[in-house]
Amino acid sequence: MTVVASSLASTGNDSSRQVLKLIVAAAQNNGIGRKGTLPWTLKSEMAYFTKMTRTVRLPAALRGLQVANDSGGDVCISMDGTEKRVLNACIMGRHSWESIPLRYRPLNHRYNIVLTSNPGLLAGETSPLVARAADLRDALSHIEHINSDPATGIFINDVFVIGGHAVYKAAMHSPNPVEIFMTRVQFSEADTCDVFFPEIPKDSFTHQSFAELQARVPFKVQEGKLTEDNLEYEHQLFTKP
Ligand SMILES: NC(=O)c1ccc[n+]([C@@H]2O[C@H](COP(=O)([O-])OP(=O)(O)OC[C@H]3O[C@@H](n4cnc5c(N)ncnc54)[C@H](OP(=O)(O)O)[C@@H]3O)[C@@H](O)[C@H]2O)c1
Repeated sequence: MTVVASSLASTGNDSSRQVLKLIVAAAQNNGIGRKGTLPWTLKSEMAYFTKMTRTVRLPAALRGLQVANDSGGDVCISMDGTEKRVLNACIMGRHSWESIPLRYRPLNHRYNIVLTSNPGLLAGETSPLVARAADLRDALSHIEHINSDPATGIFINDVFVIGGHAVYKAAMHSPNPVEIFMTRVQFSEADTCDVFFPEIPKDSFTHQSFAELQARVPFKVQEGKLTEDNLEYEHQLFTKP
């Protein structure tokens, strides 16, 4: 486990231009959680989350640095004579981290950053793909450090914010460009949810077309209303420059 040194929290301000990709499944009343877990079981939505957060699409500027994938199948680039494994980061709050079943965490092929005020929380964690950060700024500073230090052997490509409530809120109200990949779920028990996605400010966010959503997703997305186990859902995109 990597512990974010507090000195990293003040490195430069490039991290304020990092695009934050929020990914969320929310009911019609913005409900996202119930009793510490997801309110519904939607396998295809979970597959969308996994594919979105795992897939690495290098920006044009980095494509020339790509070398053969590593033995785990991850994209690799060569920078300044050092090879780096390219991963997306998933930033999450402590409750969301704890809600991931032990056998699935850390989320594989992704760099997991857990926000918590408890310095001891991840003390026993041995995976090099898990870090703790005090807040969102600290997490972004840590990502800058990971990318600029050849010794880390890791390059973070996309930065996903995967919940819960306060982490989404901090990201939405940050100075950073934000993309919200929302799956809107029509859930008949929406009033039983106890955690909610923050209201999307209408003055700063634009609800984009499906074509714009498709252009920003590195795989084919199904358009319109979809159904699984009598639950209707739809993939949407909201952006803030
Ligand atoms: N539907 C979805 O897409 C979705 C996505 C994610 C989560 N969920 C659900 O939402 C629920 C969990 O969300 P939640 O809102 O209760 O909790 P959470 O945001 O996952 O975790 C809250 C904790 O994270 C830390 N934290 C949060 N924001 C922080 C910030 N800005 N800076 C520093 N630390 C911060 C604090 O930890 P400390 O107390 O340790 O300081 C806080 O108590 C679960 O039911 C989960 O299943 C649903």
